[in-house]
Amino acid sequence: MSKARITGIGHYVPERIVTNFDLEKVMDTSDAWIKERTGISERRYFDPDKDTVANMAARAANAAIAQAEIETRQIDFIVFATITPDYFFPGSGVLLQRELGLEGIGALDIRNACSGFIYAISIAEQYIKAGTYKNVLVVGAEIQSSALEMNDRGRSVSVIFADGAGAVVVQATDQEDNRGILSTHLHADGRFAEELYVKDPGSSRKLRLTKEMIDDPGIRAHMNGNMVFKHAIVRFQEVIYEALKANKLKVDDLDLFIPHQANLRISQYVQKQLGLSDDQVFNNIMKYGNTTAASIPIAMSEAWTEGKLKPGDLLCIAAFGSGFTWASSLIKF
Ligand code: UT7
Repeated sequence: MSKARITGIGHYVPERIVTNFDLEKVMDTSDAWIKERTGISERRYFDPDKDTVANMAARAANAAIAQAEIETRQIDFIVFATITPDYFFPGSGVLLQRELGLEGIGALDIRNACSGFIYAISIAEQYIKAGTYKNVLVVGAEIQSSALEMNDRGRSVSVIFADGAGAVVVQATDQEDNRGILSTHLHADGRFAEELYVKDPGSSRKLRLTKEMIDDPGIRAHMNGNMVFKHAIVRFQEVIYEALKANKLKVDDLDLFIPHQANLRISQYVQKQLGLSDDQVFNNIMKYGNTTAASIPIAMSEAWTEGKLKPGDLLCIAAFGSGFTWASSLIKF
């Protein structure tokens, strides 16, 4: 049976930097509050004249494909994780496929929010192990900023979320070493669906979209921040230990932990509970905010470029978010 190995990583973030001080000008917030509660100093917002979810994904994908040292035409399947697609339908996978000129190959969209990238990785892993595909492109990309409410009412959500894209190439390998995706672990609990969600425009209403909805908070992300936080710190630990146990490994065996970049306080709490040192954890939420499905591949790409993720390293990625969904994966690089 083939193993699935990540052979290329890339990312793209929009050029426009929005600092906490920029947000102070449009809503009742402060650089001190945002830094203290979330760790974020600045984030990137897309350029409507230039960036789309699909073309940001394509830029990240091209970097990952170049690093994998394969031709784009060798990609035989796309898995695209996003909750902010360019269209209501079709999904972003087909748009990325078109951007890359890969007409004919399958393209699958994943809507598992912050856990979306790990869900997507698990699909690539399984298709490769089953022998169905050899080179799967896995992408997480989001444009959140166009839906943020830039005023006092929206401040608790708006200061956190932002835009970006990350991608990896997952390849089949028959090499006898232990490198590759060791396992993935996926969970969900739909009882908490409405604790972090966007209600409208919803398909199950008599009129999907009304004029009144424009001013209603229902079209914006609603987040019960405290509840999400409390569940996140528990589920993160559970799902990391689950992955370690499944592979008969210990926390000490980890070279690097890259959590979904939801909130620096969540990452730091989990780090402390696990007893990981600072150089065993990679965070970049300070620069990019929370980019949902894109945050883990963006962080992996930066960690790789900065030499903090190296060949042979044992990496743990883990996420928690809307659904609730949570997930982890252990990867030997
Ligand atoms: O990636 C998806 C998963 N998402 C997460 O994991 C997010 C998890 N939750 C969080 O990150 C945190 O709950 C938040 C950062 C969203 C909020 O931090 P918090 O420490 O839980 O603050 P809070 O919601 O309890 O609000 C504390 C106070 C409130 O004022 P009062 O009621 O104490 O007077 C808020 O109105 O802070 C106020 N507040 C703000 N103040 C300044 C809320 N948002 C802001 C803001 N600027 N942007």
